[in-house]
Amino acid sequence: MQKKEQLYEGKAKKVFATENPDYVIVSYKDDATAFNGLKKGTISGKGVINNKMSNMMMAMLEKKGIPTHFVEQLSDRDTVVKKVQIVPLEVIIRNVAAGSFSKRYGVPEGTKFSAPTIEFSYKNDELGDPLINDYHALALGLATAQEIDTIKKMAFAVNDAMIEFFKQLNIDLIDFKLEFGRFKGQILLADEISPDTCRFWEAGTWDTTKHVSLDKDRFRRDLGGVEDAYKEVFKRLTGE
Ligand code: TMP
Repeated sequence: MQKKEQLYEGKAKKVFATENPDYVIVSYKDDATAFNGLKKGTISGKGVINNKMSNMMMAMLEKKGIPTHFVEQLSDRDTVVKKVQIVPLEVIIRNVAAGSFSKRYGVPEGTKFSAPTIEFSYKNDELGDPLINDYHALALGLATAQEIDTIKKMAFAVNDAMIEFFKQLNIDLIDFKLEFGRFKGQILLADEISPDTCRFWEAGTWDTTKHVSLDKDRFRRDLGGVEDAYKEVFKRLTGE
């Protein structure tokens, strides 16, 4: 399948049309941003790792019965996906307090929850992706009640599958962000699953000050070793 005109350029990916109106090609970049684009940088090799890793995760989740947008990997950076209409919600699942949750509610990072949590942000860069609840999403017309119900069930199912998957790689899945899309009347898991969108801590490094991040927090927080962290996660996934 060939790339035709560029439809969109986001912070980390470009999207191209194809000859098939149902499919687009996503092309992963090495560009990294944080804090709604205020911090900018490059993570060398990130696009290749995120492309391959995200495709592996989507394939793993499909096997567990979760429908995704994934169609076919074309090259190191390019993948064919179903052309979904993105639901403008960032769906965040958390197993352990970290990041904005810790800051907002005054809970030390590394505090394990008795059950996973879910939250929604309104995907809107101009507004800074504000936190919203189900009723806000309905009032704003972002999704129907049925879609929100489906999205929640799918997000928790993704969490169950990913916790088990990463446990085998000696990684604790702290939290992650998902996006969903509509395709021919069905809700599909879309966007990406990568160290850009997940918090991965080296297993057993719970201590709030000593946990080892294997994800984009190394970039967000200037911890150093950003490329090595992405490579390490990828090595555990593939042996490469
Ligand atoms: P947070 O603690 O900053 O709200 O982040 C929660 C999770 O969501 C974390 O794994 C990183 C991911 N995330 C994104 O993928 N994109 C974003 O824009 C933000 C803010 C977080």
